[in-house]
Amino acid sequence: MNKKVIALLLITAMLMASITGCGSSSLGDADLSKMKVGVCIYEFSDNFMTLFREELEDYLIDQGFSRENIIIVDAANNQETQTEQIDKFIADKVDVLIVNPVNTSFAETITNKAVKARIPLVYINREPDAAEEERWQDNGWNVTYVGNDARQSGTFQGEMIIELGLETVDLNGDGVIQYIMVEGDPESNATRYRTEYSVKALTDAGFQVECLSNQVGNWQQDQAQQIVADALEQYGNDIEVVFCNNDAMALGALQSIEAAGRTVGTDIFLVGVDALSEALENILAGKMTGTVFNDHITQSHMAADAAITFINGGTNAYYIDSGYVKVTSDNVQKILDMVK
Ligand code: GAL
Repeated sequence: MNKKVIALLLITAMLMASITGCGSSSLGDADLSKMKVGVCIYEFSDNFMTLFREELEDYLIDQGFSRENIIIVDAANNQETQTEQIDKFIADKVDVLIVNPVNTSFAETITNKAVKARIPLVYINREPDAAEEERWQDNGWNVTYVGNDARQSGTFQGEMIIELGLETVDLNGDGVIQYIMVEGDPESNATRYRTEYSVKALTDAGFQVECLSNQVGNWQQDQAQQIVADALEQYGNDIEVVFCNNDAMALGALQSIEAAGRTVGTDIFLVGVDALSEALENILAGKMTGTVFNDHITQSHMAADAAITFINGGTNAYYIDSGYVKVTSDNVQKILDMVK
């Protein structure tokens, strides 16, 4: 074979690798200590994302990146701020971008910027929609999402209530589960899915449900505390279940439940998502019904691994999922040992 043919074969092989885009391969062996990582977080004050970003930074350093080359910025829940931060990272020629988008519907613009600058992009935590993910695949771009399918966490929340049995949860004996829902930030797909799938699990199992109140708590403990205090004042003993889209809000809910003289597990039931250690301690003490482990350790490691694969010229699957775990008093100690 002459040199031209060999070169052509090589280019074809490289193109095929980038088009298939599945599996992961590590081609090069870059000096990670010289590589720059730009990390954009939607909101530093978010409890779960704080655990995530701290673990991500530590793990990147363990893999060989220098601390000064890992730049982590806070968008303070403002998409405009985040867009400016991404533009700056691109101008500074970072080697890889890890983005927790403020607004998932803005992902198309973010992707276009990264692709144009030829910078690989790893989305974390907030999943862009299916059409956007297909675009990465159709174009063979170095873009991926690392996180979870939020539908599963909602289903698990519903299942934990189902597993208690209708006789236990239906405190007023009317054959209907009366609940309140405290929702996360409306910009996040996790909010939509957890709200929908927690209740869907109940109705799929043949339970009748009645939503007494549905309010946005923006993932924040203090907002949830107020929402649940108001709901308890308005609906009192009619409330049988409190669904919170995350644990920070469940902790706020618990403060108001206790202040109202109600007792979780006896005259009200409470579930969250994330498995924050404080929530796990409450499950252990019987003060929360359950939560769903949102594994920030595995997710942050998978995100860093995907970034390293891209830096080394390899490809990643377009969707990388760590899976959720249901947490009740049965397995809470095991999860607590993992996160502590
Ligand atoms: C969710 C998590 C929430 C919040 C949100 C931010 O996965 O359960 O607590 O951190 O991500 O997007």
